[in-house]
Amino acid sequence: MLNPGADTARKKILVFRELPPEQLTRLQALHEVTVANPRLPEQVAAFHAALASAQGMIGSSYPVDATLLAGAPHLQVISSVSVGVDNYDLPALAARGILLCHTPGVLTETTADTIFSLIMASSRRLVELANHVREGRWTSNIGEELFGWDVHGKTLGILGFGRIGQALARRAALGFGMPVLYHSRHPVDLAQELPALAGKARHTPLDELLQRADIVAAVLPLSSETRRLMGAREFALMKPGAIFVNGARGAIVQEEALLAALDHGTLRAAGLDVFATEPLPLDSPLRTHPKVTALPHIGSATFETRQAMAALATSNLLQALAGERPAAAFELAYV
Ligand code: DGY
Repeated sequence: MLNPGADTARKKILVFRELPPEQLTRLQALHEVTVANPRLPEQVAAFHAALASAQGMIGSSYPVDATLLAGAPHLQVISSVSVGVDNYDLPALAARGILLCHTPGVLTETTADTIFSLIMASSRRLVELANHVREGRWTSNIGEELFGWDVHGKTLGILGFGRIGQALARRAALGFGMPVLYHSRHPVDLAQELPALAGKARHTPLDELLQRADIVAAVLPLSSETRRLMGAREFALMKPGAIFVNGARGAIVQEEALLAALDHGTLRAAGLDVFATEPLPLDSPLRTHPKVTALPHIGSATFETRQAMAALATSNLLQALAGERPAAAFELAYV
C-alpha cells in the first residue's frame, strides 16, 4: 500500500536484464516499461534510446559508469538485482543524486551454501573424482594419489565478515567443528550479535589469518581497498597445503599470482566462483587447471533465491519511484 503523499505518476523504466514475468507485470501495472539488454548487439540501440528518458532502471551484471549515466539525464533510481554494487560508479551516482538499491539478505544463505560447496569440492576433490567415474577410469579401488583432505576440524579463515561471511562461519563452526578466524575492518561483538559463534570465531589481522588458516575463503566486497588484495605475498604467507576459495569478486585476486602459487608454491587447490573476466575466457589457464574447481559465478543461482532477488529489486524500484526510501537503498553518502 503506497502512502497518501506518494508519487503515483507513471514513470519510464528500463529493464536491462531479464526479469521473471510476475515482476515485469508488477512494474507494467504502474509504469511504462522497456526491456532492452545492452549485452545483446541487436538491443543496444533500444537500450540507449530507453536510457535517454528512463527515470528508473532495473537489472544487473552490466557496468554503469559516468559515460552511461551521461546518456540518462532523467534517471532517479537504479535497482540492482545483486548484492554487490561494484558494477556501479558510486561517486558518479552520488554526484547526480541517483538512488542505488541492491538485494542484501535474500541471497545470504544460498551464497554461503555455494562457498561451502567449493570448500568441500576442493578439499575432497569431488569434481575430479566424479569425472574419474564418468570417464570410466574407476576400474579398481582408488589409491592414495586420489585421496582428499578432511574439512571438519580444519581452521577456516574468512576474508570479510558481513552477512555471507557470518553465514559461512556458522556452517563451519557449528556444522563442521572448524575454528574460524575472520578478517574485517571492525571486529563483531559475537557475544552480543552472534552468541552461537562466541568463542568459536576470532577477529584476526590479515597476515596472521593467512599464516594460520587451512582454508581461506574470500567473501568481501570489491572496493579500492580489496582490489588485488590477494597477490604473491599473500599466497606465500598461506600454510603449505592450504586451500583458497573465492566467492567474492575475481578482481580481489591477482590471478597470475594464484596460478604461480598453484604451480610453483604450496597451495593445494583453489575453488573459484568468480574471475577477473567473466565469463572466464576460454584461454584462461584457470579453466582447466587440475587444482582448480571453477564455477560460473553461481553464488546466488538457485530458483528460490533468484526469484527472491528479483522480487526484492522490483519492490525497491517501485518504492523508490513512489518517492519512498527502500530499506535496501545502498548508502552513497560516504562514497
Ligand atoms: C551478487 O548479488 O552480487 C552476486 O554476486 C551476483 O552478481
